[in-house]
Formats: sequence, C-alpha cells, structure tokens
Amino acid sequence: MSSDITGFYRMDIEERRRVLRERSGLDEEDIASLSFSSCDPSILDGMIENVVGSFEIPLGIATNFLINGRDVLIPMATEEPSVVAAASKGAKMARESGGFETWSSDPVMIGQVQITDIPDMKRALEALEGKKGDLIDLANSKDSLLVSLGGGVRDIDLRHIAHPEGDFMVAQLYVDCRDAMGANAVNTMAEAVAPVMEELTGGRALLRIISNLADRRLSGARATFRKDTLGGEGVVDSILKAFHLAEVDPYRCSTHNKGIMNGVSAVVRATGNDTRAVEAGAHSFAAKTGSDKPLTRYWRDDNGDLIGEIELPTAVGLVGGATRVHPTARACVKLMGIKRATDLGEALAAVGLAQNLAALKALSSEGIQRGHMRLHARNLAIQAGAEGDEVDRVVKKLLEDGTISATKAEKALELFR
Ligand code: MEV
Repeated sequence: MSSDITGFYRMDIEERRRVLRERSGLDEEDIASLSFSSCDPSILDGMIENVVGSFEIPLGIATNFLINGRDVLIPMATEEPSVVAAASKGAKMARESGGFETWSSDPVMIGQVQITDIPDMKRALEALEGKKGDLIDLANSKDSLLVSLGGGVRDIDLRHIAHPEGDFMVAQLYVDCRDAMGANAVNTMAEAVAPVMEELTGGRALLRIISNLADRRLSGARATFRKDTLGGEGVVDSILKAFHLAEVDPYRCSTHNKGIMNGVSAVVRATGNDTRAVEAGAHSFAAKTGSDKPLTRYWRDDNGDLIGEIELPTAVGLVGGATRVHPTARACVKLMGIKRATDLGEALAAVGLAQNLAALKALSSEGIQRGHMRLHARNLAIQAGAEGDEVDRVVKKLLEDGTISATKAEKALELFR
C-alpha cells in the first residue's frame, strides 16, 4: 500500500473514506467508527486537511468549582480516567473555605522577529529603537479590529543575542490580544514589521512567529484547604513534603506539572483551544529559571491550614479558531458562563490547582492506584459485556479478588449470569 494518494485533499469525505477502505486493511466497521456524531462533518472538514472522520473522547463535567464566589461547571475533554473526579474532589475541598480566588494579567502575547546578518549591531539597535513608534503603528494597522477593541501592540523589546556562529537580534512585539488567543494576529504583525526591520538594520529577518512562552499572559489561583477537610495535620504535612520533592527534583517536578496539565489541557481541549500552546507555555514557564519548578506552591497558614497557589501562562481565547467554529466548544464556553479570555485563563488556573491538590493528597496517602483500578475494572466489566447493575457486581468481584483482568471480568460475568 502506498501512502502517496494523489489529490486526497481535493476529495470529499465520502471519497476519502472509500479510498482509505480500498487502500488499507480497514473493513466497513472500522470505517464506520471514524464516525461523525454531534458535529456537522462539513464544519470538521473545514478545520483541518484530508478529513475522513472525527475522533471522540469523553467530555465530562467537573463539579464543585467556586471561583471568585461564582459557581462554574467545568467541561473537561480527556481520555484519562480519574481526571474529572480528582478535579471535582480538589474543588470540593477548596469550596469548604470559600473556593478559589483568581487573577490574571492583561492578555499579552509575544511575537518574535529574528534578524540575522546585521553588519553593525549597535547602529541596528539604535535605528529600531528610534522607529519603535512607527513599527508599532505599522503592526497595529494589520488588525484594526483588535485595536478598536482595546488591544494591539503595547511595546517592542530589542535584544542582541551573542552566538558563536554569528550574532543576531530578536525583536519582541508585545501584543494585547484581548479575547483572542492571538496567534494569527501576532504572526501577521511580526511578518508585517519584518521587512521594515530589515531595511533599518541592514540585516535579514528570518523567523517571524509567536512565542509560546506566554509569560505576559498569566493567570493565577489561590485557595485554602482546611486541615480538617484534608484529614488532619498529618495530611497537610505529607502534602507539603510531596510538594518539597517537586521543588528540588526535576524527575518529580515533571510529573507534578503533568498532573496539573491533566486538568488544564482537558478544559483547553473542551473549549476548542490549542492544548499544545498552553502545554508548551506551562512547561517553559516552569523551567524559566533554568531548572524545572512546580507550577503550584503550598504553605501552612497560622491556623495550620494549607494554602495552595498556582500561576501559569494561559494562551487561550474565546473568539476565532475552533472555539467559535466547533459547536461542542461553543457549548462548553457557554456552559462555563464566561465572557472574557481572562475568565477562561483563571478557570484553568483553578482547575490546575484543584487537580494538583487532589493528586498530592491521594499520592501522599493511599496512592492513586485504588481509584484507577476501580475505573479499570469498570472498563473491563463493560468490555466483557456487563450491563446495568451487572457492571457494579463484576467490579466488586474483581476488586475483592484482587486480580483485575479481562479474563477475570468475563468469568465473573459468566458466574453472575
Ligand atoms: C497522572 O496522570 C498524574 C499524576 O501522576 C500527577 C502527580 O503525580 O502529581 C497522578
């Protein structure tokens, strides 16, 4: 089978499926499972190239979130068991002491223009510095709508970067993207100013692209977790010790932050935003000091209660992109009752903190496998054909026996039937 399919991109969805069927080992049933469900296929066909179907993952709702005094239902699209349950649990513990207090910076994204082969760096820097105002006006002229909404370029920074194989300059455009994620606006602006920068510096503009280290678009959340809610002073102590390991050890820190992103990415995905942009931003932000640091931090207050805090870049929008086009994403945004991109960023921060607290609490006590195994047993029971209350009975039997496997699930079901 050759993967060189001439004109695949020009075909409609049905033709692509037919070609796929002919060329691959997929049968009718396989092709049918590249299904379209709630979403009109033509919408998906317009979103990416060579569409043949859609890939469904579960959409769950995390409950208990009280954010700045407002109840918010949190949509989470994820394939990972326990994420929705853990977020809901973490939010419940925060709720008992008033929920999450959140904040955010202005929604400023960064665009980079790299200028190489500059004959005289000092003069080039002076030349750009002197024309900053004109460059900002030029960039802003590319998105008058954004400017009319109060956004646009706020400033330009210039950096001389020394490199053994030839120095270069990086100009950074700081663009307030308001309610857009802003990648298109920022990239268009960077491309627009690049030729003028070339003229002014005598150099060559090479890269003209957004930076995903969105450290001028931060969202934060803080919550108090009462020691009694958590299960006593010992639990507070264990959570703090677990956090201390993430502070000093990159191997733990990576997992600590991965757990935070379990929740954050699920909400980013559910709202049609770019999970990779937010993940890249979060991980680079965490490592900005040169070593990997946890995105959350914890300390004990005077009452002995646990205070948790998080801050992370949140490059997400509510206008443009899949968020507006995809009906499920639109419904998820509506469900959250949010109006501004910063509201979404703040909800992400609250989810990240809830997720992390729940993970640390579970890890520093019974471990996470018990909960995971329950879900795993449930999946196996359903796969074995259990229906209705049979599912719970098979799960109970598997957990009691302590061996959780497909064969055991089938045997247990047979026994009950
Ligand atoms: C699993 O996806 C996430 C955790 O490993 C996070 C953590 O260890 O903090 C449970």
